[in-house]
Amino acid sequence: MSELKPTILVTGGAGYIGSHAVQALQKAGYSVIILDNLVYGHRDLVEKVLQVELIQGDISDRALLDDLFKRYSIAAVMHFAAYIFVGESVTNPAMYYRNNVVGTLTLLEAMVAANVKKIVFSSTCATYGVPQFMPLTEDHPQNPINPYGHTKLMVEKILADFDHAYGLKSVCFRYFNAAGADPSGQLGEDHQPETHLIPLILLAALGQRESISVFGTDYPTPDGTCIRDYIHVVDLADAHVLGLEYLLEGGESNAFNLGNGNGFSVKEVIETARVVTGKPIKVVECERRAGDPPVLVGSSAKAKTVLGWKPQYYELKNIIAHAWNWHQHRHGEKLTAKLLTP
Ligand SMILES: NC(=O)c1ccc[n+]([C@@H]2O[C@H](COP(=O)([O-])OP(=O)(O)OC[C@H]3O[C@@H](n4cnc5c(N)ncnc54)[C@H](O)[C@@H]3O)[C@@H](O)[C@H]2O)c1
Repeated sequence: MSELKPTILVTGGAGYIGSHAVQALQKAGYSVIILDNLVYGHRDLVEKVLQVELIQGDISDRALLDDLFKRYSIAAVMHFAAYIFVGESVTNPAMYYRNNVVGTLTLLEAMVAANVKKIVFSSTCATYGVPQFMPLTEDHPQNPINPYGHTKLMVEKILADFDHAYGLKSVCFRYFNAAGADPSGQLGEDHQPETHLIPLILLAALGQRESISVFGTDYPTPDGTCIRDYIHVVDLADAHVLGLEYLLEGGESNAFNLGNGNGFSVKEVIETARVVTGKPIKVVECERRAGDPPVLVGSSAKAKTVLGWKPQYYELKNIIAHAWNWHQHRHGEKLTAKLLTP
């Protein structure tokens, strides 16, 4: 007889990474309930692709949370809901502290009140700030340089205090750049506005943007452009299931980097996108942006050792091919990138 797995509440499950995590949870046999206010999430993906219960509501609505925890027997929470735009967090920090920190605090208080004491939290490599050594490991000092990074570090600290005081166990995943899409092309990245490099390049390939801006071509890197660590969203999602199971099996609170370990330069990403899409992609070279370190690459050795995480789609061409299939699907075009297997 197959074992009945518990129900997991996924906040922000209608968004990019959350929706892939829901898919991974479903594949692993878990029941899922999504809580998303749909400010940035996509109802159509939840209803047509994921087909799970969506509660449209806000993590800061304590009455709604109390009712939700009373009505459903929830074993753990995966918490993706947050605002994610670094630039906006600089111009409107109040909005970020309110949503990402105060909203999360409300969620955590409701969890403790309902005796739900396991949470997987989306943190970020932005909590490290300016790198002091490379690759970044989990013990690198955390000194964020923008309000978005501060909000994520504050939640990490709140989680540590909630463990100490109330026994709430957490896994904090510090992601590097999430990229790619579900290989079938049914789920993918659709941020409004889009600020991430790979979708911006693919929107230029689709003719929805004139060109792609490259900020800085005189960095101390082999081709002069910034090097970043891109992690396939399906691999991220798989890590979340492992992190959840680590907690369900009684694991202590912990933090893990989730990255590729291989850095790719902006020029390499554009060149690979040209090959995958077969389209010309116009580039505009611009000045460096303030606060962009030349290289940001993480070590995910800890997640591999402790959680047994085995990322499959670490090749850049796979990441871009899957994202390209998604973008074509989303924009009603025929899929042309070969569905690459690892
Ligand atoms: N995309 C990346 O590369 C990246 C990197 C590091 C960390 N993260 C973190 O991962 C998480 C998911 O990011 P994403 O790229 O999927 O973003 P996203 O915007 O696609 O998803 C976030 C979802 O949360 C929902 N949401 C926001 N505030 C809410 C609230 N108060 N109540 C209920 N729902 C709310 C939005 O509607 C959206 O569906 C975020 O916490 C983000 O900070 C993302």
